[in-house]
Amino acid sequence: MKLIFFLLLLRHLCAFKSSTKGIDLLFSTISELQIALESNWITSRDLVTWYLERIDEVNKDLRAVIETNPDALVIAKQLDSERKEKGARSPLHGIPVLVKDNIATADKMNTTAGSYALLGSRVPRDAGVIYRLRKAGAIILGKASMSEWAAFRSTNETREGWSARGGMSASAYIKDGDPCGSSSGSGIAASIGLSAATLGTETDGSIVCPASRASIVGLKPTVGLTSRAGVIPISHTQDSVGPMAQTVRDVALVLEIIQGIDPHDNATLDMDAVRPCNYTQFLLGSEGFKNMRLGVVRRGIFDNSSSVTVSQEQVNAANDAIKLMKKLGAHIQDPADIETIDEINRSAAELTVLNTDFKQDIKAYLSELTNTNIKTLADLIQFNREHQDVEFSKYMINQNQFEASENTTGYDSDEYIQAVATSLRLGRKEGIDYTLDKYKLDALIMIGDGASTASAIARYPIISVPLGYLTKQNGINEALSGTPFGMLFTGRAWSEGTLLRLAHAFEQATHIREKVRPQFAPE
Ligand SMILES: *[C@@H]1O[C@H](CO)[C@@H](O)[C@H](O)[C@H]1NC(C)=O
Ligand SMILES: *[C@@H]1O[C@H](CO)[C@@H](O)[C@H](O)[C@H]1NC(C)=O
Ligand SMILES: *[C@@H]1O[C@H](CO)[C@@H](O)[C@H](O)[C@H]1NC(C)=O
Ligand SMILES: *[C@@H]1O[C@H](CO)[C@@H](O)[C@H](O)[C@H]1NC(C)=O
Ligand SMILES: *[C@@H]1O[C@H](CO)[C@@H](O)[C@H](O)[C@H]1NC(C)=O
Ligand SMILES: *[C@@H]1O[C@H](CO)[C@@H](O)[C@H](O)[C@H]1NC(C)=O
Ligand SMILES: *[C@@H]1O[C@H](CO)[C@@H](O)[C@H](O)[C@H]1NC(C)=O
Repeated sequence: MKLIFFLLLLRHLCAFKSSTKGIDLLFSTISELQIALESNWITSRDLVTWYLERIDEVNKDLRAVIETNPDALVIAKQLDSERKEKGARSPLHGIPVLVKDNIATADKMNTTAGSYALLGSRVPRDAGVIYRLRKAGAIILGKASMSEWAAFRSTNETREGWSARGGMSASAYIKDGDPCGSSSGSGIAASIGLSAATLGTETDGSIVCPASRASIVGLKPTVGLTSRAGVIPISHTQDSVGPMAQTVRDVALVLEIIQGIDPHDNATLDMDAVRPCNYTQFLLGSEGFKNMRLGVVRRGIFDNSSSVTVSQEQVNAANDAIKLMKKLGAHIQDPADIETIDEINRSAAELTVLNTDFKQDIKAYLSELTNTNIKTLADLIQFNREHQDVEFSKYMINQNQFEASENTTGYDSDEYIQAVATSLRLGRKEGIDYTLDKYKLDALIMIGDGASTASAIARYPIISVPLGYLTKQNGINEALSGTPFGMLFTGRAWSEGTLLRLAHAFEQATHIREKVRPQFAPE
């Protein structure tokens, strides 16, 4: 044990810092921290102290964190004693994590989706995923900032990552960089080691886009793998909670803990769900590409023909990556287009589903809160009207999507029923399923912000893993030079094991994250 630990220290020796006993929090993985904890080199109290200092140091500029947990040190102390007496409960024992501000914690912290409307309200219990994290011994260190209401309040956002409570958050890679959203703070925090891992939520792109922009790994699980109970919703049809972290292994470790059945979320009761109790078994290093059959979704994703825009540099990086996968033993089907991709780009079905769901789902969420008068979407709209001074900004000038949602007429409307069917047809039957079946593929490869929609409407998993950084070549605006971008793998329901295997194989073959140190990371 000691030997492994000192080898681990050596790995980061160039960055030896006495203030953190040689632990480089920017690059230390959960397993490395766990070794340091087990060998008594550090304590969870140390970790909490260091992470809180790091948050303090950068948060004024980056605004990645909305609140920290006033009890974190006390909790860490208890977990340190417990480790001494009985050993660690899990690989997350004593490990601090930040969670997006739409995930309920029944403690001293607020859960507000970034809005003043819910400040001071009390949640009935921890969210399902928080219950599992705490049971595993993780420390909930604080609430990460986000695009307010998970970017669902307005279609006129000029930039993601803004909320009334959190302010405008920024990427740590470039000055005032757009962090993407809506799990903006979760992405930024994981990218610069403000906690060992974070949780985000995704309805369509809200984990994979900020993960991509932060050069970290983000996984949106199949809808129903992780509980959404206690999560401020957009849509029970599409929402999913997932891990964001520096490495694929860390994402796998956190997924293993947070996934599972929850009586408060019916989607987790799906009898077809595949829940391997060990996700790290899928991580095979660069061997992981052997015998994998992968398809490249060119049309609508690589070619700028839809609302997904990609630079030539991203395309080149992906083409190189695909060559590498082939060399490492993958069978590549290129192209493996999703035949419905143009129809998906044009279809209003997703919007109809989300607008209809939000009005009902937010009401169900609000019905369990106490210490607030806000009970319905109409109340939220009224609150925003009365508090325009704080709730409206140049980044979010209105609440037009709330208003559109308020206008919907419920689950029985023909429009809704048809939209749900259309989404499943375009996303699954004639979309992802059709492509995977046609070429007998294990997974699909994509790039680009907005490429998540087919997986979103299919309710299927998608993972982002670091692929590269924009440079000044190819007409890139100088200000954007240095922006990270990711590669996406998507597949069928419950194929998280396969997606983790592929992402791990790519990560281990390339180590893109370690190549560039974020400029605005804490000292
Ligand atoms: C939660 O919000 C209340 C205001 O309603 C504030 O007093 C409190 O400090 C907040 N909690 C934390 C942990 O910041
Ligand atoms: C807001 O977005 C909608 C489309 O979603 C557009 O029609 C409208 O012009 C925008 N309004 C402003 C003020 O930008
Ligand atoms: C789960 O489904 C049952 C039966 O359809 C329903 O009565 C119950 O309210 C649902 N629970 C939740 C939390 O959605
Ligand atoms: C999971 O599987 C891996 C590889 O088979 C193994 O090394 C590891 O110990 C397992 N983890 C647990 C918690 O059983
Ligand atoms: C995709 O949608 C955008 C607008 O969102 C439109 O400009 C473009 O023409 C569409 N592409 C296709 C192939 O339908
Ligand atoms: C896509 O369009 C953008 C401009 O909207 C351009 O800068 C970029 O080079 C295009 N990408 C490709 C792959 O042609
Ligand atoms: C909502 O419905 C009202 C009344 O029909 C209409 O005036 C308004 O434009 C609609 N708002 C949106 C955002 O669709």
